Amino acid sequence: MVLEINCVPVFVDIDPQTYNLDPACIEAAITERTKAIIPVHFAGLACDMDAILDIAKRHNLRVIEDVAHAHGAEYKGRKLGSIGDAGSFSFQSSKNLTSGEGGIVITNDDALYETMNSLRNVGRLPSGQWYDHFNPGCNYRITQLQAVLLSEQLKRLDEQTITRNENGLYLDSLLADVPGITPLSRGAVAIRHCYHLYIFKYDRTKFGQLTKQEFVAMLSAEGVPCSAGYPHPLYKQPVFQQKNFMCYAIPDSVDYTQVDCPEAERACSDEAVWIFQQAMLGTREDMDSFAQAIQKIQSAMTN
Ligand SMILES: Cc1ncc(COP(=O)(O)O)c(C=O)c1O
Repeated sequence: MVLEINCVPVFVDIDPQTYNLDPACIEAAITERTKAIIPVHFAGLACDMDAILDIAKRHNLRVIEDVAHAHGAEYKGRKLGSIGDAGSFSFQSSKNLTSGEGGIVITNDDALYETMNSLRNVGRLPSGQWYDHFNPGCNYRITQLQAVLLSEQLKRLDEQTITRNENGLYLDSLLADVPGITPLSRGAVAIRHCYHLYIFKYDRTKFGQLTKQEFVAMLSAEGVPCSAGYPHPLYKQPVFQQKNFMCYAIPDSVDYTQVDCPEAERACSDEAVWIFQQAMLGTREDMDSFAQAIQKIQSAMTN
């Protein structure tokens, strides 16, 4: 999206405890050209919004929360997506709320709302006519069928989020003492995690040197709905490495082959194991079975 609006995406590293953007890395990457910060509430865990809002205020930047993973999740009692200038949600098929495809952007800023509403509706204004186009918008309108599906799911979102959050806390407690398994930190403040993904860090040295991919294959075979996640960070994709895009604002000096986010790279290649959100809607016994499956693999590989 950043490239589509002719801006320059700048990647910064994650905090290895949470896998969310590291505020110190954000601050170090800001230049006089920087316009906005896009914190991704990765896996449904709230970013450190106090620190991010503070940075944004000091540098006069907008904050666009990426809430694609975090429907119904909270930070200090506030719903994610409602804290920055705008929040963008995805309703693609894997998400906690889904209409197959689609999304929504929310804001409390009236001026921003009017602009976004127009861009969504082929550049029209509410006061204008059918053939009045004021902005370079597109047709990003959701269909009524999708809206009905989402409205019905919205009624049970809070209940489902509470279930996932409680299951996540319980699974954290089950895995706390398993050597080589480290559940991600939930951060330092009160949150409600919606566990679009339950993520733990895997250490192969405690599993007879099984690679992460081999471990995930065995865990899947045990019936745990899981994945090795992103194989590498986004900036490693050919679109960035080869600069396969048109962005008139991008200086020649921008070279994505030089981007270095070691924490994100380690998470992708060796550490991060994902359990999918549907599984987090299960029972406590399901959580027990996930932990038992991990321990079973460990016993098989170390005895
Ligand atoms: C973190 C994150 N942001 C944004 C998106 C994009 O959402 P959509 O596919 O609805 O455009 C995704 C999609 O998976 C995502 O995971």
